[in-house]
Amino acid sequence: MSPVLSVHGASVTLDGRPVLRRVDLEVASGEIVALLGANGSGKSTLVRAAVGLIPLDEGQVELFGTPLPRFRTWRRLGYVPQHSRAVAGVPATVQEVVMSGRLSRRPFVGIARQADHDAVVGAVARVGLADRLRSPLAELSGGQQQRALIARALAGDADLLVMDEPTSGVDHENQESLAELLGGLVNEGASVLLVAHELGPMRPLIDRTLVLRAGHVDYDGPVSGVTFEEHEQVHHHTEAPEPRPDVPNIGGVWGEGDVR
Ligand SMILES: Nc1ncnc2c1ncn2[C@@H]1O[C@H](COP(=O)(O)OP(=O)(O)O)[C@@H](O)[C@H]1O
Ligand SMILES: [Mg+2]
Repeated sequence: MSPVLSVHGASVTLDGRPVLRRVDLEVASGEIVALLGANGSGKSTLVRAAVGLIPLDEGQVELFGTPLPRFRTWRRLGYVPQHSRAVAGVPATVQEVVMSGRLSRRPFVGIARQADHDAVVGAVARVGLADRLRSPLAELSGGQQQRALIARALAGDADLLVMDEPTSGVDHENQESLAELLGGLVNEGASVLLVAHELGPMRPLIDRTLVLRAGHVDYDGPVSGVTFEEHEQVHHHTEAPEPRPDVPNIGGVWGEGDVR
């Protein structure tokens, strides 16, 4: 079976600066792959290129075995962007946001059908937000917002979820519910590409780990081969840190047990 996502030899330049250099990434069907790396290492750029939001200079992306330029079944892909991009300034309610996940399924632009409403209510219940259906997204906690965005992907019947730092700024309890939710989805055949600083309760779910460093793949293998460095603060940096040859493996990825 072909991988659900395959990125081969991807290079990306932003503002004249090389941000990704010949990156390879595969997510097999039913896998949860964690994409780790310090702030500025290119994780968001890689997932945005993988879902077709930014063009590659070189290389290819295939989604469900179809080269990106020919890919059309966007409902199969659920992309949950990095927190700040998704929520800032959005006054929409949970219901509206989740309903937007149905848009790509409708044959014609128009009024939502009963099936759309049912899918929305089902997806919102699935992520444990049934009682927040009419709450503005902005009033929810970070973890609840992430779950609402996952519900949007579920409402569209996505079978590949690409999530950019869904646990960032989320308390441990909500990380656990997120882990439980993802575990359940993967048992039902979904695949997940998860960008993370820290794995926390997700760790046992991870089939494979890819570590980016300064735009190239530094490690691709089991999570057990990754060295987490506790106490290394990387969040809130706006500038990319310089590559640090003195630090083995992934300098800058948050270890388990970090509190923020
Ligand atoms: N739109 C952009 N224009 C120019 N440079 C960018 C842009 N977006 C990101 N970058 C740069 O690309 C590098 C990788 O960024 P990003 O993919 O967001 O990393 P990460 O998600 O790992 O923190 C950073 O140095 C960042 O400053
Ligand atoms: Mg990022």
